[in-house]
Amino acid sequence: MGGRTLIRGGLVITASDEIHADVLIEDGRIAALATSGSVTAEAWTAERTMDATGKYVIPGGVDAHTHMELPFGGTAASDTFETGTRAAAWGGTTTIIDFAVQSVGQSLRDGLDTWNAKADGNCAIDYGFHMIVSDVNQDTLKEMDLLVEEGVTSFKQFMAYPGVFYSDDGQILRAMQRSAENGGLIMMHAENGIAIDVLVEQALARGETDPRYHGEVRKALLEAEATHRAIKLAQVAGAPLYVVHVSAQEAVAELARARDEGLNVFGETCPQYLFLSTDNLAEPDFEGAKYVCSTPLRPKDHQAALWRGLRTNDLQVVSTDHCPFCFEGQKELGRGDFSKIPNGLPGVENRMDLLHQAVVDGHISRRRWIEIACATPARMFGLYPKKGTIAPGADADVVIYDPRAEQTVSAETHHMNVDYSAYEGKRITGRVETVLSRGELVITEREFTGRAGHGVYTPRSTCQYLN
Ligand code: URP
Ligand code: ZN
Ligand code: ZN
Ligand code: ZN
Repeated sequence: MGGRTLIRGGLVITASDEIHADVLIEDGRIAALATSGSVTAEAWTAERTMDATGKYVIPGGVDAHTHMELPFGGTAASDTFETGTRAAAWGGTTTIIDFAVQSVGQSLRDGLDTWNAKADGNCAIDYGFHMIVSDVNQDTLKEMDLLVEEGVTSFKQFMAYPGVFYSDDGQILRAMQRSAENGGLIMMHAENGIAIDVLVEQALARGETDPRYHGEVRKALLEAEATHRAIKLAQVAGAPLYVVHVSAQEAVAELARARDEGLNVFGETCPQYLFLSTDNLAEPDFEGAKYVCSTPLRPKDHQAALWRGLRTNDLQVVSTDHCPFCFEGQKELGRGDFSKIPNGLPGVENRMDLLHQAVVDGHISRRRWIEIACATPARMFGLYPKKGTIAPGADADVVIYDPRAEQTVSAETHHMNVDYSAYEGKRITGRVETVLSRGELVITEREFTGRAGHGVYTPRSTCQYLN
């Protein structure tokens, strides 16, 4: 019975089913499921038995968009792979896909090596990488093929941040043409950065320097325009497209139209766009800086379109875009000039809980919660069914979730290495109790029992979500 674990009596929820079942884990994988009570203790002997009566048994979360240690705006994201993956585990996430960065002039290989070195031996949970392509040229186009073969099967490009990550339409089209051939998936940061930079300059010239102007210059229309353009370029290239961090209702409409035409166009949104708004960006005393990210938070009335998109499958994935910067010393770099505030919000620990709250609030069903947070991100990025579900043969990445526990989100109690919470004071019904990663206990009844280095690099197949 070496290494067998039995989780009894819980409600097992996957993207497709809800069943009261016992789950048997052996050698780090799901060995079997059986209707609760149908198998005797003698038949399923186990070293360790956990009682999940009254709890949910769900697949570990797959957060397909994080930025541990990302260098940005003269500083770096404050969570390392060690602190960030530990916090992820606390929040019921057992896989992250982070972004390795190719700097301009560098090869993809060198960028990937750098990120592998940052993560290697430090992660509490499993991880993979997307590749940020900042410099499209004949060499990097060839390198994309090699990366796909090695399990880095998705590439982020930016229509924003001229002079840093920015690609022009020609570079985007070339990368898309390449991905149409090699099976890669282009992930697009869709904002018209050239136009935004003009509006930034004009705002600053008028003395509009507060964080809230970050939201005003990065207009919803410029997200929609870029989203539309990315869709058309992908259509010309015959390539699938995944638009990251969608926040504007006008952008959701572009995605919905493309999907109604039958195109392989996908959209991701993030908890900050579902739960926060420009009201937060407008908080006084520079507090709004805590909420500066790109795409920016939108007025509250955009949220209904995002929730609807998640229900209608015009949006398929909720990831965090976790990219934390401390208020003190980091966000403060932009006092007197909003354009110098490092972009990004913490959230890797909060996603599963916030989306459970969305279940409680009636925005989505329980199965949809698991679909958008576990199963679809795993399929989208070639990790399914190893990750994202509870089924025989899958990795035993399992969360025992107490749907009735009450908690209040706070920087005082979170585990992310950042001095504030974007959701400070928010009441949430539901809480992670126990987390297993490949059968090993990472969180045991709300104690961290994992270790840095347990998490391993996980190569990915190509997208498993195409029409
Ligand atoms: O503000 C954000 N989203 N920071 C992280 C980088 C990106 O564009 O995803
Ligand atoms: Zn982005
Ligand atoms: Zn539709
Ligand atoms: Zn990001």
